[in-house]
Amino acid sequence: MRTKVIAGNWKMNTNPEDATELVKKIVSSASVQLAPSLVRVVVCPPYLSLANALIAAGGTSVSIGAQNCHHEEKGAYTGEVSPVVLAGMGLGYVIVGHSERRRYQLESNEIIGRKAARAHECGLTPIICVGETLDEREDDITTDVIGTQIRLITASAGEDVVKASVIAYEPVWAIGTGRAATPLQAQDAHAFIRSELHIFGAQDVSILYGGSVTDENASLLFSCPDIDGALVGGASLNADSFCSIVGVANEAAR
Ligand code: PGA
Repeated sequence: MRTKVIAGNWKMNTNPEDATELVKKIVSSASVQLAPSLVRVVVCPPYLSLANALIAAGGTSVSIGAQNCHHEEKGAYTGEVSPVVLAGMGLGYVIVGHSERRRYQLESNEIIGRKAARAHECGLTPIICVGETLDEREDDITTDVIGTQIRLITASAGEDVVKASVIAYEPVWAIGTGRAATPLQAQDAHAFIRSELHIFGAQDVSILYGGSVTDENASLLFSCPDIDGALVGGASLNADSFCSIVGVANEAAR
């Protein structure tokens, strides 16, 4: 059975004190406490808030993830963060290939695959992001773009790494715009991704939808057969909204 996952991507928001408060609120919510058997809950604060988030989540079922990592364990990479250190701190997950990193740090599919492989080797579960831009959707090349991303990342990371990862489908035009993909658009993309994963036996990987998910649109999205949860940005910064999304996922998982 595919694992349901609700992951919060806090991006460059929250200082360590905010992170403590937010995680405390999340772990004490009834829907999050109910989730473990049905839905895995992950929060991904900025690096400098990870230690506080780990302490606040200690002993609960909420996992902490990072938003990025380097593709090597150590070395002369000024300013970078090693996945082995993240794993050693007690993190469970790391997001790789978010569209904001593809855009601002010019990360390629090849590098994203290497990050996923190294993260996996260190004991982290990679959350690998793919998705098309608005121009690409309007040019009707969505599946070409996503298919190429998956093939190049798989070639770089290795099939076994992708099999042990979580995929997040995040159409770039839906991120932070308040304009989520419709359930039909999302389901079509997820079914396509699953068919690409099926080629090498990775069809049971969890595929999350990301892009303007709220507690209002989550229910229809989660009722789609190939949507296994969400990667939530803006709405994950508000404990009530994030926990309501977890609650919707619990209902959908029953
Ligand atoms: P959003 O961000 O929910 O604010 O659209 C999602 C993401 O970037 O992962």
